[in-house]
Amino acid sequence: MTRLVVDPAFVIGGLDRRVFGSFVEHMGRCVYTGIYEPGHATADHDGFREDVLELVRELGVTTIRYPGGNFVSNYDWEDGVGPKDRRPRRLDLAWRAIEPNQFGTDEFVAWSRKAGVEPIWAVNLGTRGIKEAVELLEYCNLPAGTELPDRRVANGSEAPHDIRVWCLGNEMDGPWQIGHKTAEEYARLAEETANAMRRVDPGLELVACGSSNAGMPTFGEWERVVLERTYDLVDHISLHAYYEPKDGDQASFLAASEEMDRMISAVVATADHVKALKRSDKELTLSFDEWNVWYQQRFPGELGLDIREVGPLIEDTYTVDDAVVVGSLLITLLRHADRVKIACLAQLVNVIGPIRTEPDGRAWRQTIFHPFALTARYAGPTVLRTAVSGGPEIDTAAFGRVPALWSTATYDESIGEIAIFVVNRSEYDKVDLEVPLAPGYRVIEHLALYDDDRAAVNTADDPDRVVPRAVDGTEVVDGSCTATLPPASWHLIRLSSGEAKSPGGTP
Ligand code: AHR
Repeated sequence: MTRLVVDPAFVIGGLDRRVFGSFVEHMGRCVYTGIYEPGHATADHDGFREDVLELVRELGVTTIRYPGGNFVSNYDWEDGVGPKDRRPRRLDLAWRAIEPNQFGTDEFVAWSRKAGVEPIWAVNLGTRGIKEAVELLEYCNLPAGTELPDRRVANGSEAPHDIRVWCLGNEMDGPWQIGHKTAEEYARLAEETANAMRRVDPGLELVACGSSNAGMPTFGEWERVVLERTYDLVDHISLHAYYEPKDGDQASFLAASEEMDRMISAVVATADHVKALKRSDKELTLSFDEWNVWYQQRFPGELGLDIREVGPLIEDTYTVDDAVVVGSLLITLLRHADRVKIACLAQLVNVIGPIRTEPDGRAWRQTIFHPFALTARYAGPTVLRTAVSGGPEIDTAAFGRVPALWSTATYDESIGEIAIFVVNRSEYDKVDLEVPLAPGYRVIEHLALYDDDRAAVNTADDPDRVVPRAVDGTEVVDGSCTATLPPASWHLIRLSSGEAKSPGGTP
């Protein structure tokens, strides 16, 4: 029997619900025929697909980063505002696509309000700089009375958009980025852009670019250099990471949460190193503003793309295993709730998205939709540290020997509810789980995602092939909740005391 202990004394931190964020980039069919398709049977008068809006609300997304991604580093925001018939068609260098500019700043803000999400904005620090970032901020956030906000009003938005979180560029460490910079070059530009933006609105939350992934040769050093310049000016440092099975090594892929966990710890350590150097009282937090499973080995890379009109790009179809990994990555983000305050599942629709659409057709939930939606719906306001003992371990080529179980829990004191999120990362062995509890607890429900066919996927014709299933037999007996976790499975176990009180019962 594997024992998982939850105790109210083991508080990691309050849950910032912005960790249930996502990402919309002008890339492939994320915007066009994804969230925006005038003429679609469900389109509203703005051209927003209502079928997609409904799925976005069901997904439980809280915040969405926009407009890129690599796209933002060669984007002129002015192209995307004003009368649509006067907006230019423009070559986007990032994805070598013709950007029609029929959807831009004002449309995304209007869409966000309908979806019930808070927009996070990225500024172009690739081909542009301080002036354009400040002008976009003025256009968005200032009341009427000067040229730029007056232009917004003339374009139909009387009230300021009031965007609170701004990313200072995107992946500026990456040689693929248009306007790629050295750490020193980026640090100076980010410092001065942050300075100028704070003069417009001192209360903004600013995100400095961290590394594009933990495998970058400058990982760690990039963060140090950037933060030594910007520590007092920014609130968060960004992290990006995409995971996929490498060379058929599914065991390591199922344990990808180890990689995310180690990356977060490394960035926290670097931020705290700079804090010490500066003798600062301020604690920097993390914005994991791009993460997901992405089969990059199937992608030819930007330079392999022919210039074309907007069309499908990296529309990965996700399996059961992919959903289990996405669930485990969300667990990892919660395990770092003290430092990770924003996270964005990249991307939202079609482009490595939890939602897929057909142009002029159907919309459906991919497998990865389900662990995200359930975690967003049932995670309570306080994240608790879980302690697992007596459980099996698995051997992985990438991370060595690691525990099979990966878990976290949340507590909602107001309703006396504990939610346990746990993944069995073993490919072959089930785990018998025991959770000791204080008297009075009962199981509300146990939902799980697994399948005999771990490669099963959802499609337009079979959209519910992979859905969470209710697990029978999970119950509280003699003060402990017992459950069986099949191999390669994701779980949500909801427990209630029936009243507002503390959990616990460590034997
Ligand atoms: O999400 C796809 C791309 O991945 C983004 O444009 C970029 O920021 C990252 O490399």
